[in-house]
Amino acid sequence: MKLLETIMQRAQQNPQHIVLPEGTEERTLQAADTILGKKAATITLIGNPNEIIELANRLQLKHIEETTILDPENYDKMETYTQLLFELRKSKGMTIDQARKLVKDPLYIGTLMIKNGDADGEVAGARNTTGNVLRPALQIVKTKPGVTVVSGAVLLFTQSPYGENGFVMMADLAVTPNPTAEELAQIAVMTGQTARTLGGFEPRIAMLSFSTKGSAKHELVDKVVEATRLAQEMAPDMQIDGELQADAALVPSVGASKAPGSIVAGHANVLIFPDIQSGNIGYKLVQRLGNAQAIGPVLQGMGAPINDLSRGCSADDIVQMIAITVNQAISLKEHRDAILH
Ligand code: ACO
Repeated sequence: MKLLETIMQRAQQNPQHIVLPEGTEERTLQAADTILGKKAATITLIGNPNEIIELANRLQLKHIEETTILDPENYDKMETYTQLLFELRKSKGMTIDQARKLVKDPLYIGTLMIKNGDADGEVAGARNTTGNVLRPALQIVKTKPGVTVVSGAVLLFTQSPYGENGFVMMADLAVTPNPTAEELAQIAVMTGQTARTLGGFEPRIAMLSFSTKGSAKHELVDKVVEATRLAQEMAPDMQIDGELQADAALVPSVGASKAPGSIVAGHANVLIFPDIQSGNIGYKLVQRLGNAQAIGPVLQGMGAPINDLSRGCSADDIVQMIAITVNQAISLKEHRDAILH
């Protein structure tokens, strides 16, 4: 797939340092080996060194010796990270003893490495739930400046003629259960930015609902109408419209009849769901019933690239997610450099 090849090539041209907290997990180790073979990132694996080396030998992996292995029971920055965590969380009631205990948790170590400037991004979740991966990330790395909500977008390669030649992005499917109108607007704009930086295409964003342009009246519709207005205000350079039903968003003839004059209706390539219940169900239906390939969810809005895996993921899924995380780290640095100059 062209986009995935481009994402991998971009990673290879500018490898970033990615931390993998689940270093003793088989698929994670296989993925680390593949990424190192492709020279697409430098890797820190967190986990017991003997266990990692034994597993790497059993799997006959060739590149694991090129990684840095961080033993959570004994590493040189343990005291630095304890103090950092305590400083960051003391106002939330964390004691130094609690911080000392948490800095042995690989998921906390990964985010503390990023916060301390020791890694550029993190990928985890082959063994841990989404909540367990996200909580330390939200507590320690937090959101990007100007953003209050993190969300998850998925890239879907369908066999339909809709979107960008069958390619669409959807959000939020993973993080914020029931966003406010203001949060939904942020999610739309962030997904538009992800479409530009990761997808490499100009977004046409549909704010989805069960109503199109006032065809139904309900407080659930009101939220989408308000979010559309706010998103248009936040990003006047982006094509955003709503509220639109999914068919009005995607199908040119339906869009023309239900939302005449809309710049997005019938041509949307980014679909924003009103909450994660509809988003998560919607994308999984497209993936399974429509036999579409799904990449992600890719997390957006976080202060640094941190991505969560499904526990059912394959080693190849992890390879892709590491390459995506490297791309996000490159974009973040380019954005920071642009602000500084
Ligand atoms: N965006 C930004 N920050 C957030 C968000 C968010 N969406 N949610 C919580 N936070 C922050 C809070 O402000 C808080 O910060 P603070 O402690 O510095 O004040 C911190 O994160 C922790 O917040 P809590 O409310 O204590 O955390 P909670 O236990 O509610 O967990 C979480 C947050 C993990 C994101 C939760 O909302 C969640 O589990 N979401 C659903 C995840 C999920 O299961 N997704 C579906 C599976 S993914 C898939 O199928 C593809």
